[in-house]
Amino acid sequence: MEKRDGFASKFGVIAAAAGSAIGLGNIWRFPYVAGENGGAAFILVYLFFVVVIGVPVMLSEFTIGRRAQRNPIGAFDKLRPGSQWKWVGVMGVVVAFMILAFYSTVAGWTLQYVYLSLANAFAGKDSAALNDMFVSFQTSSFLPVFWQVVFMLLTAWIVLAGIEKGIEKYTKILMPLLFVIIIILDIRAVTLSGAGEGLAFLFNPDFSKITSSTILEALGQAFFSLSIGMGVLITYGSYMPKNNNLSNVAFEVSFFDTLIAILAGVAIFPAVFAFHIQPSAGPGLVFLTLPSIFQSMLGGYFFAVLFFLLLLVAALTSSISVLEVVVAYFVEEKNMSRKKATAIATASITILGVFATLSFGPLADFKILSKTVFDLLDFTSANIMLPLGGFFIVIFLGWVLSKKDVIDEISNKGQLKIKLFVIFYFIIRYIAPVAIGLIFLNGLGVFNL
Ligand code: TRP
Repeated sequence: MEKRDGFASKFGVIAAAAGSAIGLGNIWRFPYVAGENGGAAFILVYLFFVVVIGVPVMLSEFTIGRRAQRNPIGAFDKLRPGSQWKWVGVMGVVVAFMILAFYSTVAGWTLQYVYLSLANAFAGKDSAALNDMFVSFQTSSFLPVFWQVVFMLLTAWIVLAGIEKGIEKYTKILMPLLFVIIIILDIRAVTLSGAGEGLAFLFNPDFSKITSSTILEALGQAFFSLSIGMGVLITYGSYMPKNNNLSNVAFEVSFFDTLIAILAGVAIFPAVFAFHIQPSAGPGLVFLTLPSIFQSMLGGYFFAVLFFLLLLVAALTSSISVLEVVVAYFVEEKNMSRKKATAIATASITILGVFATLSFGPLADFKILSKTVFDLLDFTSANIMLPLGGFFIVIFLGWVLSKKDVIDEISNKGQLKIKLFVIFYFIIRYIAPVAIGLIFLNGLGVFNL
């Protein structure tokens, strides 16, 4: 068997998986989706799904990857040669394509905000003026596309140069720093006058707001934020040393990912209410609220620059994990060189991405199934394709692989204690597939619970 690269330290494993998980999903998507779905009740459903479905699916991906020692497509084919299971891997490639197309739109907005904060462009503007500034940027044709292309080139460059390992070294410092900045923002946010309303929105659930679409959105957000359902973490699992306790890694990564999302919410919602912004303002929410906070705090210029730069880094450590899936597929299944694979993947994703970006401006009226290109990519990938991928992943682990193989892999042939295995196995065999299936059919309106 060929010798694969591996992660050197236990912390390296967690840092890399957390790097993929923590990104725009926590700081941009979580608040905007929570805001559109009424806040606290949505968040409770979300937390429930992270624990009951997210962690088990994440552990399943790690297990499949480490067992097979392959990328997602190769992994299914190796464990069940010649079967149809490889299509789960192929689906992952398609979703990777879709996710990166709209992810790069938002990452492009982040780049613009790095630029604006460096240029001190928020200074002296009230929230109405900050709103105008964001909207006129977002709806224009050139600049958002320009930044999107820059972001895709950055992602491609990292993937091509193969310096993800080098990046790991920096993210070990930068992600904890992002964490600290968010805490500082939180402190400022909760001391704004009117903060109480925002905190109530976040933590005081109104269960009458829960509908079947809320539940589907919460499930989709859990999958998106944890980077599961697409095979990214199968690849990461394949790099993990055998003596690494996969279940601990799954718990730790999910814990930090969720913590960051909640802390981002604590920074944003008090500001939403203090500055009279609509919680349901949609994908622009973070960009509308945070500049107002920076404006109202000591050292705001400095914190704004640092925050948007770190958000960019967080977005990059996620986007490389997504692009890598597409590149690995082209290299390993289509026999392309790495260079050619990266070029083709980047170019085609960017082309699709431009449509997503322009759907806030010139293409705002171009709708498919009454959704703009951006909304369609966002909704379909997170709420439909990822849970569907997760469904097949848990079925594969629970019903296709033998129980003995699963135990062997997770416990490293009995050397590691695995807590809660009985619960995990019960979840992946029964609870997760049934829950995902029901939420799905219900959310899509096939029937009503
Ligand atoms: N989880 C990342 C974020 O929160 C996005 C991401 C990276 C992702 N890899 C993924 C989402 C794989 C789904 C599947 O920003």
